[in-house]
Amino acid sequence: MLELFRELFALPPGASSFADGIDWLHLFVIGTTLLGVSVITFLALVFIVRYRQRPGDHSTPVVRVSGGREAALVLGTLALFLLWWVIGYRQYLTMRVRPEGADAVYVTAKQWMWKFSHGQGQIENNVLTVAVGRPVELIMISRDVIHSFYVPAMRVKQDVLPGRYVSVWFRPVKAGTYPIYCAEYCGILHSGMLGEVRVLSGTEYRHWQEDATRARPLAELGREAAVKHACFSCHTVDGQRHIGPTWSKLYGSEVALSNGQHVVADAAYLTESMMDPAAQVVLGYAPVMPTYLGSLDASETGAIVEYIRSLQDAPATPSVRLPEVQVVPPTSASSTIPGAP
Ligand code: CUA
Repeated sequence: MLELFRELFALPPGASSFADGIDWLHLFVIGTTLLGVSVITFLALVFIVRYRQRPGDHSTPVVRVSGGREAALVLGTLALFLLWWVIGYRQYLTMRVRPEGADAVYVTAKQWMWKFSHGQGQIENNVLTVAVGRPVELIMISRDVIHSFYVPAMRVKQDVLPGRYVSVWFRPVKAGTYPIYCAEYCGILHSGMLGEVRVLSGTEYRHWQEDATRARPLAELGREAAVKHACFSCHTVDGQRHIGPTWSKLYGSEVALSNGQHVVADAAYLTESMMDPAAQVVLGYAPVMPTYLGSLDASETGAIVEYIRSLQDAPATPSVRLPEVQVVPPTSASSTIPGAP
């Protein structure tokens, strides 16, 4: 019945313990209002025919309803609304009160990604791994603007605010992967602020916990370092030019420089570009990149190079079109680092 309802109204699958209750209430409200609309429409049509103006009769028919019937109608409708409210309020309470023993996951939202830090130390970007049957509490904060954590399959939606922790919890009941959306407009890549909840069975989850404590691929650490140092504010990984050149297929390619020379973008060139960006500026770009000397440590620099190397055969299909970037012609004045005295 519920499955048919979800199919009929294109509702997301129900993957948390909340889903059935919410969908039953939804079905109840929609069913009752649909029935009400049908009855009222039918009666209106009957009355239009029955009380139509007949030839020669110019009097206005007066309908008198007994006080008792009127009270029953008003109180009956009110009782129905109150019933919905009571059911909804009880569900709301369940959703707001975290159960004992829920796994805590700290969520950081920022333009434009979700970062999940598990209590056991695992860190995930845009993927939240949880286990079937284990309640999980998300303690969330934003690093910049207001975002909204939305997982339709879990029937969970919560605004995530800068400077204030908010929390939600849910208990997954079905293994699978379910999309996470951002449901609050938060800037140009808002619609790309996607992720997924990965619900594993008990044994798979234990394996994941064991694996996650082992070493992680360097490229992945590099991606994280790039996120941390806001490299993606200027560089894309999908082939589009932005304030700086794209990282897609950059490694090993031949790069034309503004001084007319050509270099191969190898590890040495990439490292120099991070530490001394003004030394070799790519043709067609303004020399606006600040130096990362001193702010990127050696392991982060290596990891970022490794990450760029991993993008050699990344599909260069842009998911989002970026706005045109005004390219400032290089002059002696603009070759200084912005913000420097
Ligand atoms: Cu984050 Cu929209």
